[in-house]
Amino acid sequence: MFKTVEWKQSGVVMIDQRLLPEKEVYRTYRDHRGVARAIRDMVVRGAPAIGVAAAMGVALGARKIKSKDIASFKKEFGSITRLLASTRPTAVNLFWAISRMSRIVEDNAGKTATELKKKLIAEAIDIYREDIEMNRLMGKYGSDLLKSGSTVLTHCNAGALATAGYGTALGVIRGAVEAGKEIKVFADETRPFLQGARLTAWELKKDNIDVTLITDNMAGHMMQKGLIHAVIVGADRIAANGDVANKIGTYTVALLAREHGIPFYVAAPTSTIDMNILHGDDIPIEERDSREVTHLKGRRIAPQGINVKNPAFDVTPSRLVTAIITEKGIVKRPYGKNLKGLFDKKRKVR
Ligand code: MRU
Repeated sequence: MFKTVEWKQSGVVMIDQRLLPEKEVYRTYRDHRGVARAIRDMVVRGAPAIGVAAAMGVALGARKIKSKDIASFKKEFGSITRLLASTRPTAVNLFWAISRMSRIVEDNAGKTATELKKKLIAEAIDIYREDIEMNRLMGKYGSDLLKSGSTVLTHCNAGALATAGYGTALGVIRGAVEAGKEIKVFADETRPFLQGARLTAWELKKDNIDVTLITDNMAGHMMQKGLIHAVIVGADRIAANGDVANKIGTYTVALLAREHGIPFYVAAPTSTIDMNILHGDDIPIEERDSREVTHLKGRRIAPQGINVKNPAFDVTPSRLVTAIITEKGIVKRPYGKNLKGLFDKKRKVR
């Protein structure tokens, strides 16, 4: 089995997702600058995986700080976290993980630089482990929503490759398969970066899960023919009102699902929920290089000088979302009230 991201004594090891499915190449990053570049360049991608990689990047950077003086340690630590936070704007897991790492430094006044470094490494490893645990819980809860014999459509890659392991949306599918259900998957290819064709198809096939690849514009046809029974996607950021930012094209899929009376589920850990953003309109949407649209594998497919737009994400309004599957349970409407309830320690959702 492959490892998406892993902490090793030598550094942070990541599978280079740009080269999949043709080549399985692992790269070792020895400082936080390398990790920042890896996130920006999509060596590692997917909201939870970006968070885990950033936490490990912070730990790597901190490990290299030479100064024993705490004031200078904190100053250098600040520049490490700022660099990692500048890599990609939409997935809130990045900022969530960095602020968990920063809290270690804030909450441990009086500790030496050596002690702080140890604690930071331990925290990054905890973030990694917890991510896998959360995915397994989502898999367990979410699998109840899928009937044996159903076919599920997914968009982008919300699998083991997008997380520390197991996956969110694909974790739910894995959970259902592990529970003995017969589940088939349709994977949207997910233009322009092709996470569906390159990554989802690859990891499901590796797991012997029945997967059929379609281009994005085929989803409506498949639904009209009655071939899709549920949609499950991941999320990059969920606003307090339940609006969901996810890979570009997700909104279109949600509209199609509504038209065809098909449930539209979002699987995401609570680290993806941003209670500070009230409405999906306020979620920052990353605009990526136009070459992702004008070129395929380095080959130009559009006229030189053509105007291009390349937003990497869109926002699905909460009214189109049937349920949000989290590690704390399944959340339904009204999202404003029920998402808030997830963060109330005394309340149990399930
Ligand atoms: O641009 P990417 O590949 O980082 O976008 C990934 C997605 O949109 C995923 O669906 C999302 O991060 C959820 S991953 C569990």
